[in-house]
Amino acid sequence: MKTKKVLIAASAILMMSTFCLFAQSIKGATMKYELKKLNYDYNALEPAIDAKTVEIHYSKHHATYLAKLNAALESVPSFNAPPTVEELIQNLDKVPESILTAVRNNGGGVWNHTFYWDSFTPNKTTPDDQLMKQINASFGSFENFKKEFTDTAVGFFGSGWVWLCQDESGKLIIVKSFNQDSPIMGEKIGFAKMNPIFCLDIWEHAYYLKYQNKRPEYIAAIWDIIDYNELSKRLK
Ligand SMILES: [Fe+2]
Repeated sequence: MKTKKVLIAASAILMMSTFCLFAQSIKGATMKYELKKLNYDYNALEPAIDAKTVEIHYSKHHATYLAKLNAALESVPSFNAPPTVEELIQNLDKVPESILTAVRNNGGGVWNHTFYWDSFTPNKTTPDDQLMKQINASFGSFENFKKEFTDTAVGFFGSGWVWLCQDESGKLIIVKSFNQDSPIMGEKIGFAKMNPIFCLDIWEHAYYLKYQNKRPEYIAAIWDIIDYNELSKRLK
């Protein structure tokens, strides 16, 4: 009788272990990414970017990209997505064809917006010596950089992003991406290898509530809320 009880207990333990392993494998296959919290309140970037725009942009647009990304990944449970969205969109060549467009659009939407929010601060900052040295070496002066970035953003036709990136030689360059494409997606979408330092969302949803058709005013307003300390940390 005692042997029988031991056998039953051992079987139960084995079944529990098997179930746990199975549950872990399911969890891994359908891992959900989460929305990174903002570093500041919705109204913290006023007057450059108003509270309502930040709230809707973050809690509706950004959150929707995340929900759609997670839904796409859940539709292919056999695909073992990497732990971060960054790694996911840096490796689009590993994404199943059936969800490639969804991952490109929504994964880009998630990562780009997180990078965008983290580029701003309500605390006034200025470029440190290292960042200023890089800007001067690449553009001649801060004013030249600002003008080139502004001209690119004002003249952008359609929806997308303007980026300050570091190319492989370390030089700072200004780059455009359409829709939710991101420079970190690399060769898969035709970008050379580069390191993003700053980005500006120039989809209308980023500024229309406050600025309507006056995109140049939105672009002119963001220079005072850039977190130059964060930009310096991104330099390689
Ligand atoms: Fe956006």
